[in-house]
Amino acid sequence: MGRIRKLSDDVANQIAAGEVVERPSSVVKELVENALDAEATRVVVDVEQGGTTLVRVTDDGVGMGRDDAMLCLERHATSKIVRFEDLTRIGTFGFRGEALPSIASVSRLTLRTRARDAHEGVEIEIRGGGAPDVRPAGGATGTTIEVRDLFFNVPARRKFLKATATESAHVGDVLLGMALARPDVTFVLSRDGRPVREYLRAASRAERARAVMSGEKLAECRAERGALGVEAMLAPPERARAGATGLSVLVNGRPVRDRMLARAVAQAYGSVLEGGRYPLGVVWIDVPPELVDVNVHPQKAEVRFADARGVFDAVTRELHGALATAFGLPPLGPHPQAPIHRPPVPTLRTLEGPAAAARAMVTAARDAERPELMPEGNLFALGAGAVNEEIPATEAPREANAAFARLRYVGQVRGTFLVCEGEDGLYVLDQHAAAERVTFDRLKKTHAIHGVAMQRLLVPEVVELSPSEVAILEENADEVSRLGVEVRSVGDAAVAVHGVPRLLARAEPARIVRDLVAEVSRAAGRPFRGAVDLVLATMACHGSVRAGDALSREEVEALLVSLDRVDFSGHCPHGRPLVMRMTFGELERRVGR
Ligand SMILES: Nc1ncnc2c1ncn2[C@@H]1O[C@H](COP(=O)(O)OP(=O)(O)OP(=O)(O)O)[C@@H](O)[C@H]1O
Ligand SMILES: [Mg+2]
Repeated sequence: MGRIRKLSDDVANQIAAGEVVERPSSVVKELVENALDAEATRVVVDVEQGGTTLVRVTDDGVGMGRDDAMLCLERHATSKIVRFEDLTRIGTFGFRGEALPSIASVSRLTLRTRARDAHEGVEIEIRGGGAPDVRPAGGATGTTIEVRDLFFNVPARRKFLKATATESAHVGDVLLGMALARPDVTFVLSRDGRPVREYLRAASRAERARAVMSGEKLAECRAERGALGVEAMLAPPERARAGATGLSVLVNGRPVRDRMLARAVAQAYGSVLEGGRYPLGVVWIDVPPELVDVNVHPQKAEVRFADARGVFDAVTRELHGALATAFGLPPLGPHPQAPIHRPPVPTLRTLEGPAAAARAMVTAARDAERPELMPEGNLFALGAGAVNEEIPATEAPREANAAFARLRYVGQVRGTFLVCEGEDGLYVLDQHAAAERVTFDRLKKTHAIHGVAMQRLLVPEVVELSPSEVAILEENADEVSRLGVEVRSVGDAAVAVHGVPRLLARAEPARIVRDLVAEVSRAAGRPFRGAVDLVLATMACHGSVRAGDALSREEVEALLVSLDRVDFSGHCPHGRPLVMRMTFGELERRVGR
């Protein structure tokens, strides 16, 4: 007799369950997906003890007749596809015909269902696989599936379940994903008999996202590139977290976990998010189904794109455009009813008028050796003899952007904060964060166009590094010089710094080089390109006005003008908000006026 035997259905199902059913929340996911595939408009989920003792999902979908109800518990029985090619245009969550038999093989499962025009329903009970009990049943149209005592017959798996609170949290996450997938469906979740969440049917994705993430200030973004659609509701950078747990990504309405996609979204924030930090929010990506393979993960949590690079790139770029506008300083609204008296602020447009003020500004900035305070564009030409920085002229600021320049500078507090009066309230800026943002933007623009302009050092400075760090600098020599840094190796454990970015002439050369190496090694393995923004952000941080530096009125006004010309002007490159606003209304309330 041979040694090879065919596994029984029950054993085969239990093995499949090992992949499909990881924990109670996987059961919730499979059952809710089935309900949605069955055209439910309302899905009610009850869990007890985190779902370990009970998961019950009730829907008002099409239901099943007696034969289908028997068949759905068998392996590879599905109503969703017929042939393999159907997968290339799949419009349902399910397609394998595996979920129910897998779940049934590791729990006590009861299925109650009634098809739309049947006058009677059916109830089927099955315990850890085995033969089902079938009996007629009443009840409303639709389906209820109860899964009790998950893994009761697989002690090894049961042991790995976590505390009730943890399992409950996973259930909550799954439901949240489904709610974001289908805004047009009402979802209700109860725990141990108490209703804990209710997402009422919503009119749009945006509306559902606001319901799910109530309390968050979300920017709405929507873009299309070719056949690809991107829709997003994203929170401001200061709400970002280490790790992508607060970011939901859905591809063709399917919640997925994809590091690369999450990173593509984070990159849309530019340098305001440090590596490893991800925004809070939701991103829906829609691509023609034939360009994405959904059959690559046992829990369908991952997908594979035909053109992954193209998708990531489009997501980053399209979202970036929208976010830059959304998270700058909010416009101050229409023109003031009572104009505030304030000295004219030199801008590109007023050059012919108060040229004297402009000149004073340039001189002040130059004298203070703080080129980052100088407004860009033509104004620079004015001081060109002295500070020959090559900054690409930017367009005149857009009206919606001219928000900082319209503030009236009142004074500096604690050598750190700049207090300003706006049309609608009081503004307090963090001077370091603001200067850092401006410097960073300049570095970035010059870097993108022709490389950061370099200031040669009269006396090269030797910096000791490890041999591998020296090697990193050598391997990336071109990119390093594009960053405005010139180094030559001295032996294998030191470099001589010959030049530093001109905008940062004040910063210590050794520090600039060390920062550079640190960022590049952190990016290890990834293309150098990915590290550039971080390098520039760190450089900007160390090369800008710091807390404690005294600033003259001209310097502050120049800084405000400059701020209007940068993207994301509301945040420093590391994502901290750089301005706080208190409306006059609020101020009056606080003092009881
Ligand atoms: N709530 C429900 N309402 C109506 N029919 C259902 C419901 N749940 C399951 N079914 C039917 O049972 C079949 C089997 O469900 P099952 O989840 O095992 O497989 P699937 O959804 O087809 O594929 P997958 O294994 O990928 O989830 C489905 O194809 C569907 O026809
Ligand atoms: Mg299914």
